[in-house]
Amino acid sequence: MIFRQLFDQTSGTYSYLLASRRGGEALIIDPVLEKVDRYVQLLRELDLKLVKAVDTHLHADHITGLGVLRDRTHCITVMGEQSGVDVVSMRVTEGDTMEIEGMALDVLYTPGHTDDSYSFLLADRVFTGDTLLIRGTGRTDFQNGNPRAQYESLFGKLLKLPDETLVYPAHDYKGDTVSTIGEEKAFNPRLQVKSVDEYVDLMNSLNLPNPKMMDVAVPANMHIGLVQEEVKRKGWAVTTEEGLALLGRSDIVLVDLREPREREKYGAIPGSLHAPYPDLRENVQKGGMLYELAATSGKRVVFYCAFGERSAMAVQAAQDAGIALACHLHGGLDAWKKANGPVAS
Ligand SMILES: [Fe+2]
Repeated sequence: MIFRQLFDQTSGTYSYLLASRRGGEALIIDPVLEKVDRYVQLLRELDLKLVKAVDTHLHADHITGLGVLRDRTHCITVMGEQSGVDVVSMRVTEGDTMEIEGMALDVLYTPGHTDDSYSFLLADRVFTGDTLLIRGTGRTDFQNGNPRAQYESLFGKLLKLPDETLVYPAHDYKGDTVSTIGEEKAFNPRLQVKSVDEYVDLMNSLNLPNPKMMDVAVPANMHIGLVQEEVKRKGWAVTTEEGLALLGRSDIVLVDLREPREREKYGAIPGSLHAPYPDLRENVQKGGMLYELAATSGKRVVFYCAFGERSAMAVQAAQDAGIALACHLHGGLDAWKKANGPVAS
């Protein structure tokens, strides 16, 4: 496994780069905007293809690198279902798995620091965001934080992991890099409480100043979605209403770019073909499945995904590869469902 813990000194943020092998797919957790050049360089040096950029929650102390990484690497962005972010490519929730080639992380919903806080478990290690820090816990006094919910996330979920599980937090301000669940249970001062009420009192008495960057970081981090209007202006988008009118037409092929997990969970547009986003480059090149389909049958390829981000990137790639009739469903299945479009399970 390739595992890199990367540090942003200004905000005290840890970002984590994961991959199962050199030359394979990679995932990054909690990237920081100012460090994107470094990540891209490291990806190149290790011959990795970034496919997912994930934030554990909407950060208040730094601007996320998610949007810029998506624009530069065509990776997809991932956050929790509850997040107030405008658009990410994929949303996850408790019990999901987040997969890349050779690696699957369990998704744990751990609210309390914010209401969109998640942790990610990978075999012997857990990425705890700002829920569980080394000898601390994330503050609960803004962004819909809730000490009671955090107590549950800690005592009901994270501390139930095996004692030897490695703890990798999103921040540290003292120079610690890693801990274990057993160590935190024994020595984390915030966890030495006898009841939920005692924890709530402790968290409510902290009186911390707001993070320096908060007024800048929170609004910036809420607006990271790809600008789908650009694609629309080029005439490469169909609205849900237009999409509905195209359903069942023989000169159209709807292509679902989502992962099998998303199709199972949320259903799919009836009659659509499944061609997952990670295989896109291959599929749209000459000789690829979608290229041949478009070239030989003359069908118009209409990409769709969850929220329209993957499909907006796909339409650009398809156009670049010479599939001139390619377009995408603006707003994805989310917009489709809101317009009462049919969905098959
Ligand atoms: Fe945070």
